Amino acid sequence: MRQTIVAGNWKMNASKEAVNTLVMGILSGMADVKSKVIICAPSPYLSQAEALTTHSQLHVGAQDLNVNASGAFTGEVSADMIKDFGVEYVIVGHSERRSLYGETNEIVAQKVQVALDNDLTPLFCIGETLAERESGNMESVVSRQIQVVIDLVGIDAFKNIIVAYEPVWAIGTGVTATPQQAQDAHAFIRSMLAENNTDVAQATPILYGGSMNPVNAEELIGCEDIDGGLIGGASLKSDDFLHICKAG
Ligand code: 13P
Repeated sequence: MRQTIVAGNWKMNASKEAVNTLVMGILSGMADVKSKVIICAPSPYLSQAEALTTHSQLHVGAQDLNVNASGAFTGEVSADMIKDFGVEYVIVGHSERRSLYGETNEIVAQKVQVALDNDLTPLFCIGETLAERESGNMESVVSRQIQVVIDLVGIDAFKNIIVAYEPVWAIGTGVTATPQQAQDAHAFIRSMLAENNTDVAQATPILYGGSMNPVNAEELIGCEDIDGGLIGGASLKSDDFLHICKAG
């Protein structure tokens, strides 16, 4: 039985005051939450997130990492740096990083490897664009994204990877994949993992992301192969986020 995981991706939205209000709000409603809950803060707020969540059920994640350990990489953040702030998880390969910052499948795979090498659990994001879906290429795009990672780190490494299926057309658009569309994609992803190792496929959490909200979360997370959510906009309001956390 896979535990439900709900992760908030705050993206580039935060201030000291907003982080305080949001985290305190989430903490105040965590008593009856059974899901594992992760908040992925922008780097400057990881320290604050760590301080606010010590001894709580909330886990902290980062939103990206550089593949290098240290050195002349202006503006970048290493695995060691985020670990210094109690970070256990890191989003890797988000579609915004792929489309806006040129991250290829190969770069994403390297980031997955570096995260694993540093005992960080990657939230490994995959998903197709609208054009790719409409041209019937969802499965080929998603399987390529996964295959490159399998080729680099091996299927057994997926024991320590959380997959997040985020169809690009559903991110920040208010257009959610229907439960059937999402379930079909998740089942496809799991079947692809199963071609390599059935036990690993059964154990790997596959989260859905893309306009998940308090209204649609329960039905989506209720699908057989959907093990939780990676939440953008709705993770910025503690009431909405908690509602989703309780859907699992
Ligand atoms: P939204 O929930 O705002 O659509 O964002 C999803 C997402 O990109 C999470 O990583």
